[in-house]
Order: sequence, then structure tokens, then C-alpha cells
Amino acid sequence: MKVLLTRPLHDFAVKELQKLYDVEIHTGKIPMPKDLLISKIKDKDGLVCYPYDRIDRKVIDAASRLVAISTYSVGYDHVDVKYARKKRIVVSYTPEVLTRATADLTMALLLAIFRKIGEGDRLIRNGRWKVIFGPNEFLGIDLYGKTLGIFGMGRIGKAVARRSRGFEMNVLYHNRTRLSRKEEKRLGVQHCGLYELFRKSDVVSIHVPHNRETNEIVNLKLLKKMKKTAFLVNTARGKIINEKDLVFALQKKMIAGVGLDVFSTEPISANHPLSKMENVVIMPHSGSSTVETRSKMAEICVKNLVLSLSGKNPIYQVKP
Ligand code: DGY
Repeated sequence: MKVLLTRPLHDFAVKELQKLYDVEIHTGKIPMPKDLLISKIKDKDGLVCYPYDRIDRKVIDAASRLVAISTYSVGYDHVDVKYARKKRIVVSYTPEVLTRATADLTMALLLAIFRKIGEGDRLIRNGRWKVIFGPNEFLGIDLYGKTLGIFGMGRIGKAVARRSRGFEMNVLYHNRTRLSRKEEKRLGVQHCGLYELFRKSDVVSIHVPHNRETNEIVNLKLLKKMKKTAFLVNTARGKIINEKDLVFALQKKMIAGVGLDVFSTEPISANHPLSKMENVVIMPHSGSSTVETRSKMAEICVKNLVLSLSGKNPIYQVKP
């Protein structure tokens, strides 16, 4: 069988695949140019892809032998899962292993915006720290006692809720399906409507998947509901927020700041309006980027592919 990797993966994972298959790895321009992907996928049985690869109808139609797509990510909005299913292609992904790392980064962004970590770092590096600050200068905000609004109470949302309890925050959440009362109690969280979440929270953190329903769901209408002192954090997918509306809300000081790991179009440049604002903390889409997590993701990604190619159920199959 032949397998295509749209970019290099950990050595141990590649070796594992090479024991079983004829493996082709794209090492050129990232993401793999669409035309090249379409030509390379033609004779492949399996595909390992990443969030920047758009596995749409055109790619799937070109892949006449393809039976398995294994994405190295928890998000799968880059794969036309419905169409793949129609073509009897099994799509698998890597949830769970990256829950903690993503929740940790969410807390890091939250702390960074509350305590102006990026601003302080820039201030010193740019030689602007001349005297010890007075009582009313360079003030951050306490996390203690503030209300965190979690939008999307899946695995990562819950992990964020658990972490925020350590900082003695109050937690509200909005989710399509309400948790059981027992679980709400265990996590110390309270369910509310979406508007209420945005209205009452001191910081809203986004943890819903990106799909047709959530595309740009965070728009001006919702942002207007937020307190002027409130923050927004997004470690899910950029397209969940209408980015133009967000920039407008920040420019008009409708909200106090944001912490973002994801953007509508990635990568963003230094000239992007969000890169230029002091009250914005940005990271280059690295929620799962830890040594341990990325290695576990590679292990699962390979296992998923091998199982799918041998006609068995992968560990984590995406169900449309
Ligand atoms: C994921 O796994 O979906 C993360 O966002 C990394 O892309």
C-alpha cells in the first residue's frame, strides 16, 4: 500500500509507517500546493494530513484508491468528512492527547492578558523600563473572583474549567448540550445562554469546534454584549470569530483585550492589525505544541492510519 504524508512527521512514526507501506513525504512548500497534492494522492491508499491541508471534494475525487485519512489534529474542519464518508474513506483524528496542552495554553493566554505579560516583555526589551512603576502604573487584573465564560464544554473546555478553579475563578459555560447536574457540580460550573455568557463574563474562552454552525458565531452582535473590561481568548479555530468585527471592537474599546492562538487565515503577518495592538496577546497556533503531546499525537496518528488501512476501526474516528 502507498501512503502520503503532506509534511514530515516524527522519525519514530515515519519508521513505523515505512515498515508497512511505501511512504512518500512531502518536504517542500508548506502547506503542500493543491495541484501537487492532487497529483500525488492519485495512487495512494492512505493520507496523513494537517490542519492547513484542505482535503476537499477535489482532492478526494482525485484519490481513486484512498481508504484512510489520518489527520494530525483534533480539529477536522479542513477535511470534507461527509464527502469522504460517501466515498467510503475512513477519517481519523487525534483528540484527548492534546486536551491538557491546549487547556494549559488557554490559561497561559488568560494570565498573559490579565497580567500584561507581552506588554511587560516588550517594554523591557525596547528599553522603556526606566523606573520602578508607581502604585497606579502598569496594572494588571486579578484572576481571583473573576467570571470565566467557557463557550464549548467538551474535553478542552472541561480541562480549562478544572484549571481555572485553581485560580479561584467563577465559571459559567454555554454548550449545545447541558452537562448533568452531577458533572456541573463536580466541575463547579454553571450553565447559561450564549448571550448571557458574553454579557456576564470577565473573560470568555472559546472551545467549540469550527463548523457551519459556529462559523463567525462570535461577531459584533455578541462582542457588543461584553463588558468593556472583559477579555476574549481563542485557542479553538480562528474562523469561529468574525475577525474584522473583533478588530473593530478592540479599536473602539468595546472590550479590553484578547488572547489568540488561532486566526481566520494563518499565518498572520507582523502588519496584521492584531499584531500591532498592545492589548492583544498572540501565539502562532500552538495549542498542542509540547514535546510530549506532539509525540503522542504522532503515535495515535500512525495507529489510526494503520488500523484504518487494515480494515479495522481506528482509535479515534471522525463521525460526520
Ligand atoms: C488541532 O489539533 O486541531 C490543533 O488546533 C492543532 O492544529
